[in-house]
Amino acid sequence: MLIDFEGIDGCGKTTQVRLLAARLREAGRPVTALKEPTQEPHGRELWAMLRGERDATADEIHCLFVADRRQHVAERIAPALASGEVVLMDRYYYSNLAYQGAAGLSTTTIKADNAFAPAPVLVLVFDLPVAVALARVGAAADRFERADHLVRVRAAYQMLADDPLVRLLDATQSPEALAEEVWSLVAPLLEAEGQA
Ligand code: TYD
Repeated sequence: MLIDFEGIDGCGKTTQVRLLAARLREAGRPVTALKEPTQEPHGRELWAMLRGERDATADEIHCLFVADRRQHVAERIAPALASGEVVLMDRYYYSNLAYQGAAGLSTTTIKADNAFAPAPVLVLVFDLPVAVALARVGAAADRFERADHLVRVRAAYQMLADDPLVRLLDATQSPEALAEEVWSLVAPLLEAEGQA
């Protein structure tokens, strides 16, 4: 079972991954929590770009995200799923759809390029106004995270709500209230899995 946590920076997804991982472990479920971009060579190149140390076209950036994910799936995600772990992703190919889609790439192409990646059972999109998100993260807005771009990314995420796997959550709530809402969406999936 793979659950993807998504949203613009400052939406609180990383806290929610931590809270859900703890709750699942308490319930006796083995959990693997992973983050993209990774710390592998492609991921490190992406982080350097995020810090503005290297310039690249939108296509180059997209190809690097896909290459990073391909290695992540092969080395970490697929093995964890195969051994029955619940895999919690702090960003996955839905970030690719929202961010590179907002940068002008075709979502059909992005989807096709990610066809190798196991689909999540649930995509939680933590939605909140860009101004609130930026205030939370302070001035550390990097090249993917400038306010005007983030407005487009948020809109791209909102458009993904048509996807049956996607749930849009109000991320202006307290972390505790949000964690309860996350649990109310995850618990029925665990029950259904137990009955299968
Ligand atoms: P983020 O997850 O916000 O990391 P942190 O909070 O630890 O700084 O940063 C990752 C950035 O990478 C974010 O701006 C979104 C971007 N990104 C893409 O543009 N496409 C992708 O496919 C992925 C996985 C991330």
